[in-house]
Amino acid sequence: MSARRIDGKAAAAALRARVAGLAQSFAAATGRPAGLATVLVGEDPASQVYIRSKRAATAEAGMRSDHHPLDAGTSETELLALIERLNADPAVDGILVQLPLPAHMDAARVIATIDPDKDVDGFHVVNAGRLAVGDPAALVPCTPLGCLHLLKAELGDLSGLHAVVIGRSNIVGKPMAMLLLGESCTVTIAHSRTRDLPAICREADILVAAVGRPEMVKADWIKPGATVIDVGINRLPGAEPGKSRLVGDVAFAEAAEVAGAITPVPGGVGPMTIAMLLRNTLVAAHRRAG
Ligand code: GUN
Repeated sequence: MSARRIDGKAAAAALRARVAGLAQSFAAATGRPAGLATVLVGEDPASQVYIRSKRAATAEAGMRSDHHPLDAGTSETELLALIERLNADPAVDGILVQLPLPAHMDAARVIATIDPDKDVDGFHVVNAGRLAVGDPAALVPCTPLGCLHLLKAELGDLSGLHAVVIGRSNIVGKPMAMLLLGESCTVTIAHSRTRDLPAICREADILVAAVGRPEMVKADWIKPGATVIDVGINRLPGAEPGKSRLVGDVAFAEAAEVAGAITPVPGGVGPMTIAMLLRNTLVAAHRRAG
């Protein structure tokens, strides 16, 4: 391996410690802790694990964590009424509705009901619009924000670099592209219909893979010395029966022979997402406190 391994776990721990310090100052100055409300509809095991991690990290940072578990049969009207109550609650700075929602709910309508200034996921169209026009009031989706943090720590000024983002989701690909454009990168968004994807990736100084296809990006897709950010979290069968292993969207071992720096999976982008959720919650709290 010749590439530098970008340690997202360490970067996330440092960021969480910084947010915890600032959260303490916020509580001292305002007489109340910053607060995150989480909502989970149903009992999807993966979502329960995510919510547990988010709540533990919130509490560990000295912020208030209020959880609202709703049973799978809850109507959309009831969920929207809960969101309206949380919008109006002065102790709540951030609202996170865990996705995916059950099939009988319209996720777009649910997200649109969240007060954009409490939308710490950055999923509301108002925040997507703010990000697109470069409005600093934008709350930015946590995963791409975490990727940008790692890139700036690794490379410093990103201006003029060619960034290729593989994936065009509203949660990762599109906001990632907007953030990189904001850093004056030349940005290409590639996706499943892109022609000659390997050739386009080979042009990239920065390659962000967010497609959800295990080990799709091979060594010969990478420009020597490029910085590779792997957003993928894919579960493959492990060596032993009944065991699984996590892999990214990049074939790590071979890619690391060519790249200049690369994030591992696990331990790369993943830990940054929760750290950025805490950061967004504190940012929202400060803005609301004026
Ligand atoms: N489900 C998977 N990732 C996320 C996330 O970042 N936010 C929310 N709300 N739901 C998710």
